[in-house]
Amino acid sequence: MDISLLSDIARTYGTPAYVYDLQKVEERYRLLENRFHDLPLDIHYAVKANAHPAVLQRLRELGAGADCVSIHEVKHALQSGFEKHQILYTPACPSLDDLDEAFRLGVRVHIGALEYLDYVARNFPGRPIGLRLNPDITGGGNEKIATAHRRSKFGIPWTFSGRLMELIEKYGLHVEGLHVHIGSDVKSWKDLARGVDFLTDVAPAFPQLRYLDFGSGLKVPYRPGDKEMDVKAYADHIRKRMSALPGIRIKLEPGKFLTAQAGVFLMQVNVVKQIPGALIAGVNTGFHHMLRPMYYDAYHHIENISNPGGEPELYDVVGHLCEEDTFARNRRIAGIRPGDILALRNAGAYGFVMASRYNLHPLPKEIIIDGKKVYEQ
Ligand SMILES: Cc1ncc(COP(=O)(O)O)c(C=O)c1O
Repeated sequence: MDISLLSDIARTYGTPAYVYDLQKVEERYRLLENRFHDLPLDIHYAVKANAHPAVLQRLRELGAGADCVSIHEVKHALQSGFEKHQILYTPACPSLDDLDEAFRLGVRVHIGALEYLDYVARNFPGRPIGLRLNPDITGGGNEKIATAHRRSKFGIPWTFSGRLMELIEKYGLHVEGLHVHIGSDVKSWKDLARGVDFLTDVAPAFPQLRYLDFGSGLKVPYRPGDKEMDVKAYADHIRKRMSALPGIRIKLEPGKFLTAQAGVFLMQVNVVKQIPGALIAGVNTGFHHMLRPMYYDAYHHIENISNPGGEPELYDVVGHLCEEDTFARNRRIAGIRPGDILALRNAGAYGFVMASRYNLHPLPKEIIIDGKKVYEQ
């Protein structure tokens, strides 16, 4: 996104503000679709990453379905125009009321614990379901987003496969799908491929199977020099493995891959403050609006769009909360002055959706760029 447009947006709408470029979302979607063009793929966008109505609408128009992890996301996806057959509901430890509602709404439910199977069989006999399995594979950019290892809360541990098979038989469960999600921000496609190998190995044990869902974890570059995941190699691997399973469809649930690079978070510098050994740029936002650097130790590139030619210096970019809320430490940024606008890049996924009103600050704005049109929604 061009910095003069971002500066105009900051002036017109104020900050803090998330800005999403729908054309970039579209470009990412087409790129992914392209890589898998000859495979029977359904892309279910992970609504958790960015639930803005305009983003959802664009992805729906492009042909995506939705992947939801809460009943609220399910209802939001339905309201945004996704058809129930396009919606996956893959919750972690849901209440029975939430499961019940999802079944009644008619979306596809992925069950992630043996303990729910009896309830499903009694209340929704014969209803096709998917199973989220835990293969005990460690992947994911950090421990908070590694979701398929032995001690993880997610999925039915495959070490219980004997019991699982007994329950399927006992209750006559109609298992149409198998799901695995290794984690988010997975470093190499080879880690994701282990999930693919696992599901393709166990698939023949499920005679009613219609699809395998490999979740996501598709990594995008955040740091300078970071590489994007080799999606082509990943697709080639899936192609090879799926050749033994004719007629079975593939599902992916990308979040970051589709929206991270389509978003920028704009913030304004309140004060530039010298402390012993550091120069601090204090901005008008904090972890209540953009949690990733603090919660995941995530790196986000930050640039001074008000003074791009300024003499670079090392800054700590910190928020205005009454806690440590540091976006970047000792970061080289073009000379920062009070009032300057800083752009934090790759903010289109897991940004606004994680925002809160901590310290009673209002939520940031969300601004959409759609070609030549710019609007707040
Ligand atoms: C079940 C499920 N599917 C898909 C995703 C999306 O992952 P990513 O943003 O890495 O594409 C997540 C996020 O962690 C998830 O929990």
